[in-house]
Amino acid sequence: MTDPRLGVDGVVVAFGGLRAVDEVSFAVQPGETFGIIGPNGAGKTTLLNSVSGLVPLRTGSISLDSTAMHGLRPHQRAALGVGRTFQAAEVFNDFRVRDYMLLGRLFAQQTSVIGAALRLPGVRRAEKSERVAVENLLDRHGLADVAGVVLKELPYGLRKLVDILRALAGRPRVLLLDEPTSGTATSDRLALRDVLLEAGRDGMTTVVVDHDVQFVSELCGRVLVVNFGQQIGTGTPAEVLQRPDVRAAFMGAD
Ligand SMILES: Nc1ncnc2c1ncn2[C@@H]1O[C@H](COP(=O)(O)OP(=O)(O)OP(=O)(O)O)[C@@H](O)[C@H]1O
Ligand SMILES: [Mg+2]
Repeated sequence: MTDPRLGVDGVVVAFGGLRAVDEVSFAVQPGETFGIIGPNGAGKTTLLNSVSGLVPLRTGSISLDSTAMHGLRPHQRAALGVGRTFQAAEVFNDFRVRDYMLLGRLFAQQTSVIGAALRLPGVRRAEKSERVAVENLLDRHGLADVAGVVLKELPYGLRKLVDILRALAGRPRVLLLDEPTSGTATSDRLALRDVLLEAGRDGMTTVVVDHDVQFVSELCGRVLVVNFGQQIGTGTPAEVLQRPDVRAAFMGAD
């Protein structure tokens, strides 16, 4: 067996006495779109945060390909290829769409900050080709018209789509998506689904957390179900969703 792209093994994250993630293990293979579902407060976001390095592990280990990551800082994990979006990302709302996308690309290029500050010719050339790549990407997804629009002026669903494209544009080794459909309309969900299906066909490895079980089922070959921090099942969406204990976990929650 080769190493999985992402390996999560026996992870425990605790906030005081609360075990928000309690002995969770799963492995995501290269090119797989893997889902995580569970009711509110189940520990889904905390699990993603443990992978991107935003919360410390009490015990357990996390690896990317064959590299142990759990001792690394978030920016080091990002540099290794952990990309993500957040459940509520409002930080960059003053950026124009094309500049926000460019951030994702330039980060992936690892352009040196000093080189960028001095505007060295190599950096300028890289930036030029990155700008072209961003315009092409926006064009391909029907977003050429909004390239110059400030993010906060876009409808919410479109902002979520732009954020996912920004993360994809960085070509991460694994992309973590936290609630990509939250607050979106059905038409936005279809657009998001199509973007993620296309990314999957292109070989992107993705972990998607979402309340919309149908959305997750359409995207993911396998899903992990968590409840009160514990994993209660892993399998195909059809397999896990027919289980009485999984159905009971969702009852009254969503
Ligand atoms: N920084 C923190 N400090 C203390 N408790 C926290 C912290 N972050 C999360 N929790 C708690 O850990 C548990 C899991 O929260 P988490 O946000 O991971 O759940 P979730 O499955 O993402 O929920 P939702 O579906 O609402 O997004 C909850 O009980 C939450 O209150
Ligand atoms: Mg959450």
